[in-house]
Amino acid sequence: MDQKLLDFAHSGQKKISLKDEFSSIHNSSMTDCETNGCSPSKIILEIGFGYGELLLHHLSYDKHSAVVGIDLFENGIANFLKKLNTEDFTRTRIFKANALDVIENLKHEELDEIIIMFPDPWPKKKQQKRRIITDRFLVSCANLLHSGGRLIMASDCMDYLFNCLKLMEQSGAFKWMDGAKLSAISDHKQTSHPRSTIIINGYELIISEWPSWLPITKYAKRALDFGKSIGYTRWEKRIISS
Ligand SMILES: C[S@@+](CC[C@H](N)C(=O)[O-])C[C@H]1O[C@@H](n2cnc3c(N)ncnc32)[C@H](O)[C@@H]1O
Repeated sequence: MDQKLLDFAHSGQKKISLKDEFSSIHNSSMTDCETNGCSPSKIILEIGFGYGELLLHHLSYDKHSAVVGIDLFENGIANFLKKLNTEDFTRTRIFKANALDVIENLKHEELDEIIIMFPDPWPKKKQQKRRIITDRFLVSCANLLHSGGRLIMASDCMDYLFNCLKLMEQSGAFKWMDGAKLSAISDHKQTSHPRSTIIINGYELIISEWPSWLPITKYAKRALDFGKSIGYTRWEKRIISS
C-alpha cells in the first residue's frame, strides 16, 4: 500500500476526542498541504468498513457531516482512501486498528451514529465467541453516542441479527426504532416493491424497499446474489435524565 495512504490512518492507541480532531488543522501527507478544521453537524462512525462504500456514500449525500471508519483490512482501507475526494479529507478520519481498542479510547458522547454493516458472522457455534457485538461492546457504543444517537446494524446472518436484538434489549441503553420491527431487503432493486411481513423467532420481519442510506456494498451484493435476505435494525440511545 502507498505509504502516504497509510500515514493518513491513525493507529487507535491514544485517547482521542473526535470533535477536537475534526476542528484542528492537519498536515495531510496525502496532499502535502495543510487542511483546515471543520465543525461537522454530525459525526458518524462505521466499525469494520471493508471497502468503504458506505462511508463514501455518506460523504456524498450529507455534505455537512464527518465520517470515521475503523478497520484492520489494509486493501479495503487503501481502496477507500484512493476513492476519497481531496475536498472530503477534512471530514474523514480512518483508524487502521482493532475496533475494540479504538472504541475504548474515544471520548464519550461525541457520536451521532454508529454503523456496523455485515460484521464477520462467525456462524458456527464454536466460533461465535469471536463475534464483535457483545454486551461489553454495546456498553462502549452507548458511551460513545450522545443521548438520541443511533446504532445501526445489518447482517445476512439471521442468527447473529437475532442475537444482537437480544443483547440490545437486555442492555437497556437503547430504544428500538422502526416500531420495534426488523426490516429486511431481499433483492438488489433500488425501486420499491410490495411490503410483506413474516414472523421469525417471534420477531416481525418487514421486507422493505432498499433504504436510501444504504449503498450496495460488495458484501450486500454477494448476500443477495446467493438469494439471502439482509436484515437491519436501528436503535436510539435512551435519553438519560440528569
Ligand atoms: C464482512 S466485512 C464487511 C465490510 C463492510 N462493512 C461492508 O458492509 O461491506 C467485515 C469487516 O470487518 C472488519 N473487522 C473485523 N473485525 C474487526 C475488528 N476487530 N476491528 C476492526 N475491523 C474489523 C474486517 O476487516 C472486514 O473488513
